[in-house]
Amino acid sequence: MAGYIHPNSTWKEAWNFFVLLVTLFLAVEIPLGLALAQPKPSVTFWLELFISGIFGLDLVFNFKTALFRGHNLVTDQAQIRHHYLRGWFTLDLLAAFPFFLFPGISAGGTQSVRLLRLFQLPRLFKLSRLNNFFNSWEKNHFVNPSLYRLLLFFLSISLFSHWLACLWLLLGGIPMTTDPATDYSRAIYWVITTLTTVGYGDITPATNVQRYFTIAVMIAGVGSYGYVIGNVASFLANMDIVKTSYKKKMEEVNAFLRYKSIPLPMKKRVHDYYRHLWESRMGHDEGRILDDLPRDLREDLAIYMRRELIEKVPLFSGASDQLIREVVLSLKPLVFIPGAWIMRKGEKGDAMYIVSSGSVDVVSESGEEVYATLREGSFVGEMALMLEQGRSASVRARDYCDLYVLQKKDFEIILNKHPEFQEYVRNLTADRLRGSRERKKKKGN
Ligand code: CMP
Repeated sequence: MAGYIHPNSTWKEAWNFFVLLVTLFLAVEIPLGLALAQPKPSVTFWLELFISGIFGLDLVFNFKTALFRGHNLVTDQAQIRHHYLRGWFTLDLLAAFPFFLFPGISAGGTQSVRLLRLFQLPRLFKLSRLNNFFNSWEKNHFVNPSLYRLLLFFLSISLFSHWLACLWLLLGGIPMTTDPATDYSRAIYWVITTLTTVGYGDITPATNVQRYFTIAVMIAGVGSYGYVIGNVASFLANMDIVKTSYKKKMEEVNAFLRYKSIPLPMKKRVHDYYRHLWESRMGHDEGRILDDLPRDLREDLAIYMRRELIEKVPLFSGASDQLIREVVLSLKPLVFIPGAWIMRKGEKGDAMYIVSSGSVDVVSESGEEVYATLREGSFVGEMALMLEQGRSASVRARDYCDLYVLQKKDFEIILNKHPEFQEYVRNLTADRLRGSRERKKKKGN
């Protein structure tokens, strides 16, 4: 076993999450215990022991958890210890300290319960790691950043309101009854009406301190109100940034088609194309995203994303890694709608294609006679490149087709470098040529 704990390991993340849940529970319970001060502690001895145990273990784990400096993982024990001792150690120690074991505190009675709660307040400093936790969660699990911000925000605002309610109770803002639930509900009701600037005025401050506190809550309310509205609006706008940009694109296209008075059937074809693009790729532009990446990363990602295509292409089964890499990396995706011409007979050939999904028909010049139907994994348009002649037939998309295009210059580079590729394409061309000749012969008869 390694002598350190990796900060991003699954179980350390799960542990951090668990510690965070315990801390959140305490963040609610400790101020509430302080404000409502029951003569008997609401948290039992065993629960206290359990919580101190958890925080104690956390302290031990933190001494063993490696840390990141930039992108480098520091695993040296002395450095980890030094970093921890200078950072969170003191607060973690206070959080783990079993104050409830002190004789005076565990004696019971309102004052000793309050005292225990006061001593436990440092436990709440662990909450400051909430942000760290959410940050690493977002980074490691690729959560939608808006969703993460909104979650963190609602959690903070709920805790903040709860603390204000506890403070209001401590300041005597609510005349205490025998029912703590009623007292608390009145206090939180006051906080929310004041924070949201509704202010019914049924609960009002009676002392100077209460009045100043009310003013502070009102000011905080006005500030946070704007923040809430801004956050929710930006969350809704960013929630599905890809869909939003797709809708924007469609609006732009529609406006253009209207401006150019394009007839309905053609408009429909344009729409169908975009809809297919959206359904098959959720609007993501693979090529553009790949182009932004450094070469090495781009290559690995492209190979990974095109692994299904690699499996479908007969040439690739048993081919060298180098060949697969070179072909796959030179490919660019293209989409064709049903009936679209991919190439026309006699045209100059400047590229060949690989069918990734859908199927294409190889047809006569008029399009009436279908010579062959090529499906996923097939090459098409290689003959013009091999034989240095015009296209031998026309090719039309049968249904929605995702094709990958290999430009002539890339085709030639790969052909010259890889005899296996050359042989495969030559055999394919020879087969197809034979097929065409036989067809012509039959026609002649
Ligand atoms: P090319 O001549 O460049 O353009 C038309 C393409 O249709 C051709 O390359 C081949 O890829 C394909 N093709 C032509 N004839 C046949 C056939 N008989 N069977 C399958 N595919 C063919």
